[in-house]
Amino acid sequence: MLLPHQWKQPLNALTMYSDLLHSDFEEGNVDKAYIDDMLEGVQVQIDHMTTTLGEFRNFFRPNSTVSTFELLKLVNSVLFLVKDEFMKNSITVDVQIDKTITLEGNENEFKHLILNIINNAKDAFNEQEIKGRNIVIEASQDGDTTQLNIQDNAGGIPENVIAHIFEANVTTKEAGKGTGIGLYMSAQIVEKMNGTITVVNVDDGASFTILLKV
Ligand SMILES: Nc1ncnc2c1ncn2[C@@H]1O[C@H](COP(=O)(O)OP(=O)(O)OP(=O)(O)O)[C@@H](O)[C@H]1O
Ligand SMILES: [Mg+2]
Repeated sequence: MLLPHQWKQPLNALTMYSDLLHSDFEEGNVDKAYIDDMLEGVQVQIDHMTTTLGEFRNFFRPNSTVSTFELLKLVNSVLFLVKDEFMKNSITVDVQIDKTITLEGNENEFKHLILNIINNAKDAFNEQEIKGRNIVIEASQDGDTTQLNIQDNAGGIPENVIAHIFEANVTTKEAGKGTGIGLYMSAQIVEKMNGTITVVNVDDGASFTILLKV
C-alpha cells in the first residue's frame, strides 16, 4: 500500500512533536514563541498529508496534476518537513542547487521521491550508527538534461540488494520497519516524468542520480 508509506514520515514527525511538547513543558521551555513554532511545524505536516491524500487518488492516472516548479524551492520545502527529525538524528544536509533550475511534473510526487531517498539515508545512519552524518543534494543542468544527485555517507547499499532496490518489496529492514516500497515508488515517479534513476555506492555511502529532460 502506497499511502500508508507516504504517511509514515509525517506521522513520525507529529509523534515526535507530541512527545516533545510534554517534555519541554516539564522543563519549563514552553512559551508563546514555542507554541507558535510548534503549531507551524504541526500544520505543515498536516497540510502535507492532506495534499498527499488528494494527489494519491491520481497517482496511477497519467494526467495527474503537472506543473513547472523550482527545484530549489521544492527541496527546501521537503527539508522543512524533516528538519526537526533530522536535527534530532544529527543529520545535516547540504544543498547546492541553482535557483534557476525548474522541473515539470507533479510537485507532491517529486517531494515524495526526495523524502523516500533521504529517509532511507536516515534509517541507514541509525542502523550503522554513523558519526558525522551528512547528505548532499546537488543539481546541475547540461543542455536539456537536469541531473539531481543525492549522496549520503551512511555506509552504502548492501551489495546483495543494490541491483534490485527499485523493485517492489526489496528491503533489508525487519518487518514493521520497512516494506520495500519507497524506492519502487520513487522509480515510478521518475518514470512518469520520462526520467531515469540510478544508484551507486561511493566511498562511504550511497549516491542516487536522477536524470530528467527539460
Ligand atoms: N541510503 C541508503 N543507504 C543504505 N541502504 C539503503 C539506502 N537506501 C536504500 N537502501 C537499501 O535499499 C532497501 C530498499 O529501500 P526502500 O526505500 O525501497 O525500502 P525500505 O526503506 O526498506 O522500506 P520502506 O521504504 O517501504 O519503508 C533498504 O531496505 C536498504 O537496504
Ligand atoms: Mg525506504
